[in-house]
Amino acid sequence: MARTFQTVGVVGLGTMGAGIAEVFARAGLRVVGVEVDAQALDRGRGNLHRSTERAVSRGRLSQDERDGLLARTTFTGELSDLGDADLVIEAIPEVMDYKRALFADLDRVCRPDAVLATNTSSLPVTAIAATTSRPGQVVGMHFFNPAPVMGLVEVVRTVVTEDGAADDVAALARRVGKTPVIVGDRAGFVVNRLLFGYLNHAVTLLERGVAAKEDIDTAMKAGAGLPMGPFTLLDLIGLDVSHEVCEVLFQESRDRVHAPAPLLRELVTAGLLGRKSGRGFHDYDGAAARAAA
Ligand code: 3HC
Repeated sequence: MARTFQTVGVVGLGTMGAGIAEVFARAGLRVVGVEVDAQALDRGRGNLHRSTERAVSRGRLSQDERDGLLARTTFTGELSDLGDADLVIEAIPEVMDYKRALFADLDRVCRPDAVLATNTSSLPVTAIAATTSRPGQVVGMHFFNPAPVMGLVEVVRTVVTEDGAADDVAALARRVGKTPVIVGDRAGFVVNRLLFGYLNHAVTLLERGVAAKEDIDTAMKAGAGLPMGPFTLLDLIGLDVSHEVCEVLFQESRDRVHAPAPLLRELVTAGLLGRKSGRGFHDYDGAAARAAA
């Protein structure tokens, strides 16, 4: 029988984690947000407060619904507060050692029947699952940025994931208003495998002086019907995340299309990470930053 998820833990409240927490809270589930970093914990809480306030002001949520949503969402610095969770989703930085250590800890603190999920963009879910005593209950649950808006969730099933776990997580994705697709555990899954060849190639075109970045953005919006040009999208995703995804894809595929463009690496080294740092390919300081916020 399909399980009913009531309480969801989200570990890591950066851009993706905070957005994922909002998706579940809006859908009526109890949410426990966990961050080791007090600042990130405040930011996650602040995002949820601002975003739901905006929803009330636009008439998309009543004040009572907002109060209920905030009341069933808690924020904590302690993993041990996840003892009641039916599902925990990890959204910490893309460093395999951190993820493996976290999953070993989650395996200890979570109920034996809880499903453990990773929002990794490109790291192998199988290697993460192998650090736990319940690899059959470990899946990828990959959301897209901005998580409250984008409709897709890739549910990653490894060779050891039990069918029931993947199916239940896909059903949960539907329940919270998303469209799930079940994918195998290959670097980049489906979307990033196809998307990052294109994004990386756009940086190469820029490096070769084929066109200005503004014109490449305009060309892909007006000519290919995309909602954002590649440089605006890279800035939204984050150049550090984008570089990391290309690197992992290149390691696995050895396809030059994924070899990170040198300019992408240089911007990351210079600390220009996109919208989140105020500047990437485009500048978000001042008026532009306020408009993008
Ligand atoms: N967080 C929450 N809500 C947001 C948001 C954000 N960061 N950005 C926009 N929204 C909401 C707005 O509030 C608005 O909702 P409302 O009408 O209820 O207020 C709605 O989205 C539409 O926003 P806007 O009218 O301001 O802007 P657009 O219509 O231009 O849409 C967009 C913005 C949805 C981001 C659109 O430009 C888009 O789809 N861009 C492409 C994004 C994309 O491709 N994402 C995938 C990246 S790959 C990835 O994430 C994988 C990872 O592993 C790297």
